[in-house]
Amino acid sequence: MLKRFHIDTETVLYGVIGRPVSHSLSPVMHNRAFAKVGLNSIYLAFDVTDISSALAGIRGLGLKGASITIPHKVTALSFLDEIDGKAQQIGAINTIVNHQGNLRGYNSDCYGAVKALTAKTTLWEKKVALIGAGGAARAVGFGLLWEGARITVFNRSIKEGENLAKDMGVNFCPLAEFAQDSHQIIVNTTSVGMSPNTQAMPIAPSLLAKEMVVMDIVYNPLRTELLRAAKKAGCTTVDGVDMFVYQGVAQFEKWTGIKAPVKVMRKAVLEVLQ
Ligand code: ATR
Repeated sequence: MLKRFHIDTETVLYGVIGRPVSHSLSPVMHNRAFAKVGLNSIYLAFDVTDISSALAGIRGLGLKGASITIPHKVTALSFLDEIDGKAQQIGAINTIVNHQGNLRGYNSDCYGAVKALTAKTTLWEKKVALIGAGGAARAVGFGLLWEGARITVFNRSIKEGENLAKDMGVNFCPLAEFAQDSHQIIVNTTSVGMSPNTQAMPIAPSLLAKEMVVMDIVYNPLRTELLRAAKKAGCTTVDGVDMFVYQGVAQFEKWTGIKAPVKVMRKAVLEVLQ
């Protein structure tokens, strides 16, 4: 059943801009957070093809902020007035703050990954196997690098993997050559294991050892095949919901200046996923 919101001329508008956006969990998470802290704000989903006119719309209509998702995280950069240094280095944004018509871009995915992992382990000098070299890998990889982790990039395609490793100043290894070695943390940033191909895993279960911390950024399903195998091997596991919630927490706090109700946000997301 839909809950009725109080909406009037003072209501502040936020939204997620992507394509497709019908599966986005951001509206449910942010609207629940606004309601919890008593803000007269609302968050909608915008299915957008032309990012440039959507951003002009943010200025024109006075949205206070927006989340930017696939496929606009990189292209949006060229239409902003300012870009945070970290987002610049990552090469992608997922958050826009509108300061009186001045649009600033940030990347809170890196913060989300760091917060999710540091709830279970430290990162300084840890040997991390970063699986994947796409946009998500860039945000997660730089986030962990800035926390002092020692990263190796593993990717199916050599060229993309080498490019990301070079940008981060770390080593690359083809995914096919992944060995147990001495990784202390394994992070899957690929879509392998995501619904509907839920049986797939980016690495063989035999490569997992119980001392490892294994994180999957996929949250659909919540328990990916990789996380199931990791649990079975005795590893510490971190699921994709934590990263998703914490990237949202950082957005909420940037937009509102209010401490985000993390528990409420996580509960809202889990209710949809379960
Ligand atoms: P995103 O921006 O969400 O990270 P992306 O840029 O399309 O998405 O990146 C997807 C990542 O998942 C890439 O690292 C991709 O590997 P390739 O560079 O080899 O394409 C990885 N990926 C997707 N499907 C894969 C599969 N079946 N096996 C291994 N890696 C896969």
